[in-house]
Parts: sequence; structure tokens; C-alpha cells
Amino acid sequence: SFCVVCFFNSVYAGMVEDVVQRGSLKVGLTPTYIPFEMTNKQGEIIGFEVDILRSMAKSMGVKLELISVSYDGLIPGMLTGKFDLIASGMTINQQRNLKLNFSEPFIQTGQTLIIRKDLDHKVKSYKDLNQEQYRITSQVGTTGEVLAKKYMNKAQYYGYNSEAEAFLEVVNGKADAFIFDETYNVIALHRLGNNKVLHLDQPITKEPIAFAVMQGDYDSVNWINNFLNQIKNDGTYNQIYNKWFKK
Ligand code: ARG
Repeated sequence: SFCVVCFFNSVYAGMVEDVVQRGSLKVGLTPTYIPFEMTNKQGEIIGFEVDILRSMAKSMGVKLELISVSYDGLIPGMLTGKFDLIASGMTINQQRNLKLNFSEPFIQTGQTLIIRKDLDHKVKSYKDLNQEQYRITSQVGTTGEVLAKKYMNKAQYYGYNSEAEAFLEVVNGKADAFIFDETYNVIALHRLGNNKVLHLDQPITKEPIAFAVMQGDYDSVNWINNFLNQIKNDGTYNQIYNKWFKK
């Protein structure tokens, strides 16, 4: 007789099963996001999220392959099978969730603004920036870009492939404000700010960051969530967090 469970077990293999059989975990990411994923002087991709991924690959008993793409190339890359997982400081939002499944969040952030220092008295919040004369920057394909276009739609918007480029436009006085994840902005302020910019550090949004897999792949979501619980319980997560976020 026909067994429905056997049928689906033989046909359907979630991402984690594919990865274990193949022996490698292919991850799509945009390695420009300090301290999540970035390149060091030797050109290696390192960071907070990369360390979590190393631990994940180890738990699967596979090697880790990191595939760099621009931020707006992540979802198309995932949907065309170029990688198994997106791990790129990705905020869970409803638009993305129509195309992907997300794990539980492993950290939270929110959008904040970096503004030109001389705008100090004029600009207290994003609302003050919603005027035609202002130039706002962010990284293409990000939630910062979505927010700029939605809440500062009267201003001019410029998207860049890397956050640093977008940030430096404000430092160099070519743009008025940069909107991006607070977690990045606090670090970039010190590294790139050159005393030319201010951080309006009250987050405008609350954004959970998670790993994304193919829509419908609940087996992999289940595996990743339990992996995240495991590393939170055994101290691995704290050790990685402290390495990248505690000075
Ligand atoms: N959290 C924001 C988003 O999901 C920005 C992430 C940027 N990440 C990166 N690896 N460059 O859109």
C-alpha cells in the first residue's frame, strides 16, 4: 500500500540533508558589514556571523564555503540555487518572508542615522530630513534603503554597494545623512567618522536578524533553531558575541 510519509521522506530533502550529503555548506553573504561579515587584510572573510557559521558547519560535519554577492543579489542567488543559506545580517521583514523562510533571530538591531555634523541644529530625527534638498544614502537592497524611500520620500536617495561608500559620502560632505543598522553605525562612527558626522542613535525600527533558507524548508529551520539554542546554552554564542562586540 502507498505510504505518504515514506513518499515525502524519499522525495523531499531539506537543505541540511543536502549539505550533509555534499559535505559543504554554501552560504551567500555581502562581506562589507562590520562586525558581522567583512574581509581582513589577507582577504579572508571574518566576523561575528562568520564565526557562528563556522560553528554551524562544524555541527553538520561539513566544510564552509562563503559566496560573496551584492546585497540585492542575495535573494535572487538563493532562489536560483547558488547557495544553501543567506547569512548576511539579514533583517526579517514581511516582503522577504514572502520569498524565504527565516530561523529564529540570533541578534537584534534597528535603523539609525548618521548625519553631517553641521546639520546638528536642523535635524533631530528622520522627519526633519524629509525635504527635497537633502541627500540620503544607504546600501542597495537593505532595510535602510526601504526606510529612506518610505519615510524620507521627498529627499533624494542614493544607494551604494557597500555601507562604507555610503557612509563616507556623508563624511566627505557629498551627502547629508546615511541610514543603516545601528550595530554597524556605532563602529563605523569611530572607524570612518573622522569627527565629521553625528550619530542619531535612537533606533527608528526594531529589526531581528536571522538566517534565511528556501521557503517551505521547515526541516532546516528546525535544525538551525535548535543549533542556535545549543550554542546559547553551551556558551559558544556568548564567547563569539564577546569576541566581536565587547571592547
Ligand atoms: N540588516 C539590514 C538588512 O537586512 C542590512 C544588512 C547589511 N548586511 C550586509 N552584510 N551588508 O537589510
